[in-house]
Amino acid sequence: MSLTGKVAVVTGSGRGLGLAYAQELAAQGASVVINDVDEATAAAAVASIRDAGGTATAVVAPVGPTETAKQLVETAVTEFGRLDILVTNAGVLRDTVLWKMSDDDFDTVINVHLRGTFTCVREAATYMRANEIPGRIICIGSPTGQRGNFGQTNYAAAKAGIVGMVRTWALELKKAGITANAVIPVAATAMTATVPYFAAAVEADAAGEPMPAFFRHDLGFGTSDDVAGLIAYLASDDAAGVTGQALGIGGDRIQVWSHPEPVVTAYHDGGFTADALTAEFPELFVAQSVGEKFPPLPEDLVRPRPEV
Ligand SMILES: NC(=O)c1ccc[n+]([C@@H]2O[C@H](COP(=O)([O-])OP(=O)(O)OC[C@H]3O[C@@H](n4cnc5c(N)ncnc54)[C@H](O)[C@@H]3O)[C@@H](O)[C@H]2O)c1
Repeated sequence: MSLTGKVAVVTGSGRGLGLAYAQELAAQGASVVINDVDEATAAAAVASIRDAGGTATAVVAPVGPTETAKQLVETAVTEFGRLDILVTNAGVLRDTVLWKMSDDDFDTVINVHLRGTFTCVREAATYMRANEIPGRIICIGSPTGQRGNFGQTNYAAAKAGIVGMVRTWALELKKAGITANAVIPVAATAMTATVPYFAAAVEADAAGEPMPAFFRHDLGFGTSDDVAGLIAYLASDDAAGVTGQALGIGGDRIQVWSHPEPVVTAYHDGGFTADALTAEFPELFVAQSVGEKFPPLPEDLVRPRPEV
């Protein structure tokens, strides 16, 4: 597999998962446009790729507005001559329960994740179609978008919306030979470092030790580098036939997510009145679970909760 001659934009790639994606794409031969809101991390990311013999430049600007999306595509084209791969990864959290979530909490998360994905993909797809490039659109979702999560109304909306957009783009871009997929990662980063359940894994990672098998295998929780291989694969010519999918990855595990399908289909002549439902619905109903249930931690991996 090689990405030599290809050009990629990775949003939010100053650190964390985005940095790992950018480094892997560059290691496979792609020229990479780094993007972040933080100038120092963006510069360090570019330096890390150049030091490893790769090619990169940076755009320091917040994704969300159309101007940033335009700047990212223009930079890829003016600096490296084209754009083949877009990874929309930039993200922020503003977690709190529904009744405490402010308009600003909601709008900030929707703007970066959902609008940022929309504006960047619109710009990239427009360029790829006009230039007949069979491009690769890779959008980052989350388990929260798939199943919901306590305290994450805004993030669940954004991440579920991203997978919904990806399904639509797979249809709209098929004729142009452009693929659109969602990747649902789980990894030890600044975003997950404070979750007490993952403390032992984060601790091992920070110490440069391998993460316990329980995390890597049973939970699919590993390092950012564990996710990067799937990004490079989806970006490659080898993945030309993979589109419209939501792929979960982390640690030693990969998962192909289903798209929502009806689990019960029933008919009633004349339609379902309230009376008909009262009579028939209890027989038909199959409750669907929500949220993710983690297994109990093995005793040696339990860490004391930090004091708040
Ligand atoms: N870490 C996980 O386990 C996990 C799980 C599911 C989904 N994700 C998703 O993966 C992506 C990366 O997460 P991470 O864990 O590496 O987080 P992170 O916080 O370590 O990195 C996010 C990066 O995005 C940058 N950023 C924030 N707002 C931006 C904006 N408007 N424009 C450009 N850059 C911006 C930040 O400066 C940071 O460098 C996010 O979309 C996140 O929702 C992560």
